[in-house]
Amino acid sequence: MSKPPPIQAVKGMNDILPPASAGWEWFEARVREQMARFAYRNVRTPILEHTALFVRGIGEVTDIVEKEMYSFEDRADKHGQAEHLSMRPEGTAALVRAVIEHKLLYDGGKRLFYMGPMFRREKPQRGRYRQFHQVGVEALGFAGPELDAEVILLAVALWRELGIKNWRLELNSLGQPEERREHRAALVAYFEAHQDQLDEDSQRRLHGNPLRILDSKNPAMQALIEGAPRMIDYLGEASRQHFEAVQAMLAANGVEWRINPRLVRGLDYYNLTVFEFITDSLGAQGTICGGGRYDYLVEQIGGKPTPAVGWALGVERVLELRREEGGQAPEAAPEAYAVIPDAAALPVAMRCLQTLRGHGVAVQMHASAGGEGMGSMKSQFKRADGSGARFALIFGADELAAGEVTLKALRDGTGAQTRQPLAEVAAWASTLKSTA
Ligand code: HAM
Repeated sequence: MSKPPPIQAVKGMNDILPPASAGWEWFEARVREQMARFAYRNVRTPILEHTALFVRGIGEVTDIVEKEMYSFEDRADKHGQAEHLSMRPEGTAALVRAVIEHKLLYDGGKRLFYMGPMFRREKPQRGRYRQFHQVGVEALGFAGPELDAEVILLAVALWRELGIKNWRLELNSLGQPEERREHRAALVAYFEAHQDQLDEDSQRRLHGNPLRILDSKNPAMQALIEGAPRMIDYLGEASRQHFEAVQAMLAANGVEWRINPRLVRGLDYYNLTVFEFITDSLGAQGTICGGGRYDYLVEQIGGKPTPAVGWALGVERVLELRREEGGQAPEAAPEAYAVIPDAAALPVAMRCLQTLRGHGVAVQMHASAGGEGMGSMKSQFKRADGSGARFALIFGADELAAGEVTLKALRDGTGAQTRQPLAEVAAWASTLKSTA
């Protein structure tokens, strides 16, 4: 009988394996540090939500909702009712749902963040996956421009912490709904007058979501888009002031930006400030982070009117950018490797390793692949070297007879050895710890 072919991961969904996973852990630790410094607190929402949440939250005539969601009808319950569920394509709508459901804003505004996988059935390519990961921040209950500036400064602080330099910031203001309506009417009139130049996608969007036409990547339409009415020219006084205040705060912090009047986002919930961090180092998928204000979403999802602003970054893209810029992968080596010449030493050796770990030392135990005992000393030392450990702990028969273990330096070129008592691990455990 022939063997069935091996089952592979779903297209566009990646395994994150060692050693790359160490880079993810390092990145996540830097994110948590930054969030703590800005006093943003962690939220974890489910992967599955009611489809209606995203339809209502992100917008019916968006690419995400129209064609990219992993949606399904759940099994019927005992009343024959089946729920329509979707795997979350983004984090904002889900977080807002949770905030409303648990009345998180009862005592004032909240600064929150999340990290986790998101799902969009897009065409996979470099930097674009069907399961990807976001880190997102959302500040809810604050209307002032200082929060727009704060979330942007949080991202800037994170780039600095990660050592990422090749980015630029693009800003735009989408104004308020009333201003948007005027702009929209002008846009529709303009595109109607040039309907013969619209591609199929844009024809479809003309009356549903004309703003998204501005986002078209079709080269044949760029000249037409260039000439279209700009939202920024339709801003009222208050909107203009908000936008200027955000810029003044960024300038005071030495952050540079470029106003891009064509910047519209792929989700419908934004008003006033929108922004993207973009890099030229990643090819077509150069947006590493995007966000903006969404003062009407909480109400739209069923909460009290609440101003809000936030962003999400794409973890895969940010890590790829860091690699492109020569960022070193962090070491994932244990501090010590236990060489155990004879299986008879295992019980005593394992007890010592367990105590060392209790003292915070990272130790890897040699293990045989099976059958032929523990393996030769030579092969064990080869493994010890390969592990990257700075010390070998040798649990030989001589040592054990004396109630001791040998510590051998592997990386400092000396090969220096000392014997240490097994009964007093606490006294020498710290000599194994790396100070870095
Ligand atoms: P978004 O622009 O759809 O915004 O996604 C944010 C970031 O996620 C993108 O800039 C990109 O780096 C990454 N990303 C998106 N799709 C993919 C993909 N298929 N593969 C890899 N990376 C991807 C949002 O999701 C909003 N919720 C952001 C926000 C938060 N606005 C306000 N608060």
